[in-house]
Amino acid sequence: MSTTNEPDHVPPVNDYVDEATNVDDIVNPWEVKAGSNTGVDYDKLIRRFGSSKVSDDLVKRIERIIQKPVHHFIRRGIFFSHRDVDQILLAYEQKKPFYLYTGRGPSSDAMHLGHLVPFIMTKWLQDVFDVPLVIQMTDDEKFLWKDLSADETNRLAYENAKDIIACGFDKDKTFIFSDFDFIAQCPKFYRNICKIQKCVTYNQVKGIFGFGDSDCIGKIAFPAIQAAPAISSTFPFIFGEKQKQELACFIPCAIDQDPYFRMTRDVAPRLNFPKPALLHSVFFPALQGSQSKMSSSDPNSSIFLTDTPKDIKNKINKHAFSGGKASIEEHREKGGDCEVDVSYQYLRFFLDDDEKLQQIREGYSSGQILTGELKKTLIEILQKLVADHQVKRQQVTDDIVREYMRPRELKFRY
Ligand code: TRP
Repeated sequence: MSTTNEPDHVPPVNDYVDEATNVDDIVNPWEVKAGSNTGVDYDKLIRRFGSSKVSDDLVKRIERIIQKPVHHFIRRGIFFSHRDVDQILLAYEQKKPFYLYTGRGPSSDAMHLGHLVPFIMTKWLQDVFDVPLVIQMTDDEKFLWKDLSADETNRLAYENAKDIIACGFDKDKTFIFSDFDFIAQCPKFYRNICKIQKCVTYNQVKGIFGFGDSDCIGKIAFPAIQAAPAISSTFPFIFGEKQKQELACFIPCAIDQDPYFRMTRDVAPRLNFPKPALLHSVFFPALQGSQSKMSSSDPNSSIFLTDTPKDIKNKINKHAFSGGKASIEEHREKGGDCEVDVSYQYLRFFLDDDEKLQQIREGYSSGQILTGELKKTLIEILQKLVADHQVKRQQVTDDIVREYMRPRELKFRY
């Protein structure tokens, strides 16, 4: 193990760029922009980032170990990339403990459908593996990056926590925290932040995140704050005062968060902790098409969790990019293009019935199903999903939020 302060291999993101095929997809925690109109090239991203594809073999192995089918997000390649998931499976098989970690940057009241994706995945993983989960609300990150006050991002952390709790996480096994409120109460957390900060040079974060001379120093220091929860000693009240160096961490997240965890994976072994494992998702496409991820600032780019049934219907009918043909005759003759059709793409996320999805795919591609009919199916599914979410969120009282966010022992024995 290296004992100097220089991590031996945090390569700058650009080292991975495959020059011959690069079409300039921009993917980092603050910007996602596809270089071509077919969207981000995810295979290329795997090569650039140096992660691994979620292969058919891995999916089969997961199903063998958990003895049931995987979630359709995994089956359909929505979670398409990973790092060391095989290590997590090995731990599970050997009955060794691990924990889940994910998070959200609270930058607006209105969460949209895409924001739910990592939480739906995490909830499924928690149910399957029955392990503790920590959820970081980075109100500090959004304060540093956005034109918002600290009070505002802190308020948003608690508002967004309600939407997250509504996803159904096990209260006895889940700890949600706001960075602003929790870090100051937890000396071990701050120590780990400093230990991580000491391992990473400015030159390295500049290479990983692209910081420049006029970025405030808060941004430069922040990656250590997102890294610290991946080290179990950050949470002594959950994992015990004694350092649990064998306790692995498993992080489901969208692929744009990978730079944080490339850095974390470099540092963790130097602090005598395992590298966290990761499971990465693709981006949820904007209604206008898959060139970019949805933006909370453009109300017509996404379906919000606060939308009414009528909003949902109107947005999809008016704004969902269609892969259908210009006229009914042409559509019947040539069929629609599922790859670029946003309504079909949304069904891949939210219609879990494989057989039905396959029928729709065949029907639409062959021209039997028209765009209006496809949209109608999607509208019904999303109206139900969003309405159900609203009911569940309504039931999340301030007391319930306080319970999830109280530092406490979780139901977890090892
Ligand atoms: N930076 C993330 C965001 O802006 C929030 C976050 C913090 C996170 N810790 C995480 C996301 C761990 C995934 C996994 O949304």
